[in-house]
Amino acid sequence: MKKIGLIISLCFIGFSCNTSKKEEIVKNAELVMYKPSEMALLMNEMYQFNEKTKEKIIKNEDLGEFPANFLNIHSAILTDPTVRTSNFEAFSKGFITNQQMLFSDPSKATKEQFNVMVNSCVACHKTTCIGPIPKIKKLLIP
Ligand code: HEC
Repeated sequence: MKKIGLIISLCFIGFSCNTSKKEEIVKNAELVMYKPSEMALLMNEMYQFNEKTKEKIIKNEDLGEFPANFLNIHSAILTDPTVRTSNFEAFSKGFITNQQMLFSDPSKATKEQFNVMVNSCVACHKTTCIGPIPKIKKLLIP
């Protein structure tokens, strides 16, 4: 039972940013269930959505609508609220502009624009949260 709990917790925190926090969570794995922040949940949603978008671009399918809830990147509660600086806001705006571009005009729903968007995820992550970068880079369309 103890082991199962630990394995489950490790799965959940696999991509979180702060290593010391991770250790603390693992130590307390049996007492405290890891609760992802609003921002972590939004990020995972953005990841999954863009996995599907990648497939659609490769297959040349219609992308549908820009998910308006991605704008919550400007307000979602972070695990570490001090991360939200003016710099972070600039990266958020850049990412949203690049993501919206894919949906604003079918001629812009290209592999190139998709990769520009993914690189704007990576650009912010380099400044705030390096853990998930290898995972995010897997979204890039070769
Ligand atoms: C403006 C900066 C910024 C942008 C842009 C950004 N991220 Fe993040 N991302 C973060 C921060 C900060 C966290 C940590 C969130 C937290 O723990 O509250 C995070 C967390 C994550 C996580 C880990 C979530 C977890 O379970 O802990 C993944 C995966 C992720 N981002 C993927 C992406 C993808 C994919 C994109 C682009 C589609 C993206 N991010 C764009 C800053 C950003």
